[in-house]
Amino acid sequence: MSGRDVEGGGWKGPMPISLTVLRDTDRAGSGALAPPPSAPRGVRASGRLVDSHGRVIRDLRLSITDRCNFRCVYCMEPDVRFMEQQDLLGPAELERVARVCVGMGVEKVRITGGEPTVHPRLTEIIGRVASIGGGVEIALTTNGSLMDEPRLRKWKEAGLDRVTVSIDSVDPARFAAMTRSRTTPADVIEGARAAMRAGLSPVKLNAVIVRGFNEDEIVGLAGLARDLGVEMRFIEYMPLDSGHGWDRQKVVTAAEIVERIGDVYPLLLMGRDDPHSTSLSYEFADGAPGRLGTIAPVSRPFCGACSRLRVTADGKVRPCLFGDEEWDLRPLLRGGADDDEIARFLVDATWTKRAGHGISSSEFVQPRRPMSAIGG
Ligand code: 5AD
Ligand code: SF4
Repeated sequence: MSGRDVEGGGWKGPMPISLTVLRDTDRAGSGALAPPPSAPRGVRASGRLVDSHGRVIRDLRLSITDRCNFRCVYCMEPDVRFMEQQDLLGPAELERVARVCVGMGVEKVRITGGEPTVHPRLTEIIGRVASIGGGVEIALTTNGSLMDEPRLRKWKEAGLDRVTVSIDSVDPARFAAMTRSRTTPADVIEGARAAMRAGLSPVKLNAVIVRGFNEDEIVGLAGLARDLGVEMRFIEYMPLDSGHGWDRQKVVTAAEIVERIGDVYPLLLMGRDDPHSTSLSYEFADGAPGRLGTIAPVSRPFCGACSRLRVTADGKVRPCLFGDEEWDLRPLLRGGADDDEIARFLVDATWTKRAGHGISSSEFVQPRRPMSAIGG
């Protein structure tokens, strides 16, 4: 459908998804709601992606698919439903969104999923985003299951700068229970080594710690960071699983993670690499290679420094991971809108970014869409 005029000046309104009729966790609703309200005139004129709390967007998370070959316990139920193929943005649409964002100050594009490496046109998408130029950094988040040398070389040649790889356990049985996949920790570790050889550095590792599943793997994972000489980041379990099984008791806080590791490997707190970083970094006090990081959205929210904007695989602009607000860009992309209209839409959507996610509040309600449909 093409955009419709919702206000003067030829501004074509998109079709945002309905926030009230949306039921399926993995599908956009079809109800018509208003487009994002207009940002103040000066903000629109600035052509910058700033929100009403003064934060500037520099980091675009572009989800290219909600599909995945894993079913991690903290992410996807085995019977999760995926979006329809025709609802997903194609490579040219993804490039266009990224290009307009880069024109408005985005410096880093992270390609995410679902699992982006299951997308049959991933290399083309990387190449298209790289063709934007402007020194934009391109990173990929992956579960590491499809990271062999030929693929890594193709992605690197297409313009990929670095990869972040998930590994939640170094124990094969535990890894299988967490990911419900046939991939082994050894496969992922070999993939991470291959990524380093391919120059996709710095390679970072991510582990989500869920109480009752892998809190006893924390020290082993820290050991892996030392062995590989890479940064291993521990992520608190967030209320973004498709089965809505999250509960506070299952969250292992960053403080507990650091304490457990510190008992075995004394750590030095290094702080944040940059003020917008989600991760607090540590080095090993004995000078061993590798680093650690903790990402603590639950116990230590970092919303105040958020510089991120997300676009879901079906073309919804998602200002906050934890808020249900989404603004549907797809009708503009498919309805003949020009780049200025898309830019204005993105400015307006960014202006709606909330101050914080409020997970600690008793009023907090888990977002309807899971991480896999939003993009990590
Ligand atoms: N809580 C924390 N992290 C999650 N991820 C996926 N679901 C969750 C969740 N519920 C992580 C993945 C990956 C990154 C993209 O997000 O493990 O590292
Ligand atoms: Fe797939 Fe990543 Fe979700 Fe695991 S966390 S099921 S690898 S999208």
